[in-house]
Amino acid sequence: MDASSAVENQKIVIAIDGPSGSGKSTTARRVAKELGYLYIDTGAMYRAVALAVLREDRALTNYDVEPIVRDYRLELVITPEGQRTILGREDVTEELRSPKVTQLVSAVSALPVVREVLSKRQREMGRHGGVVMDGRDIGTAVFPDAELKIFLVASLEERARRRLAELGDTSLTLEQMCQQLYERDKYDSERLISPLRRAPDAVEIDTSEMSIEEQTERIVQLARERIAAKSRSVV
Ligand code: DC
Repeated sequence: MDASSAVENQKIVIAIDGPSGSGKSTTARRVAKELGYLYIDTGAMYRAVALAVLREDRALTNYDVEPIVRDYRLELVITPEGQRTILGREDVTEELRSPKVTQLVSAVSALPVVREVLSKRQREMGRHGGVVMDGRDIGTAVFPDAELKIFLVASLEERARRRLAELGDTSLTLEQMCQQLYERDKYDSERLISPLRRAPDAVEIDTSEMSIEEQTERIVQLARERIAAKSRSVV
C-alpha cells in the first residue's frame, strides 16, 4: 500500500451520544452519508430487545431477559433509505417506535446482561472504524477510544417539540412530552451501568438553535480534522 492510499484508508469511529430528541439520529445519519461511513443506531438494538420482552411477557430481570438477548436473531440491515431492524425473521423497524416499546426500553436497557451483550456486538460492528454510532454510552463505554466523540444537548422543550413533530399524529401535549422525556433521561442517566454521561473528551454541541445542516456540517468538519490527524500519525 502506498502512502496516499494509507491516508485515504484511515477510518475513524465517531461516537454521538446525548439525551432523547437532541438530534442524534438525524445528524448521525447525515454525517455518515457525507463521509461514506456506516450509521449504526444502537437505540434500535435496545428497542428490539424491549419489543421481544413485551411479546414474550418476560419479567424485567437478568435471568428472564438473558435468553432473549443472547439467542434472538437481531440484525441491522443498512439500506439506502436507512437502517432496518430485523428480529427473528421479521422487520420490526416501525414497531420499535411504538409507545409501549418507548415506555419499557429504559428499564430493559438498564439490565446488566442486556448492556453486556449489546455493547459487545456494537464493538464488533465498529472494530474496523468507518462508523458513526449514536446512543447513550458509545463514547464512555462502547468506544472509549473513539477518535471523535460528540455529546449533543438541547433544551427539554425543544427536544419535546421535535419528538412531537416526529410522531406526527399524537394526542400528547407539549407538557406531557416534556414529562416523558424528562423521566426517560433521568432513568438513563441514573442507572448503575454505563449511564448517559458526557465523556470528558467529548465535544458538546447545543443544538437548541441549530439546524440539522449546521449540526452536520460542524461534526463533519471535526471528523475531517480527526481523520487528517490520524492519517498524519500513520504516514
Ligand atoms: O435513542 P433511542 O430513544 O432509540 O434509545 C432508546 C433507549 O435505549 C434509551 O432510552 C436508552 C437506551 N439506550 C442505551 O441505554 N444505550 C445506547 N447506546 C442507546 C440507547
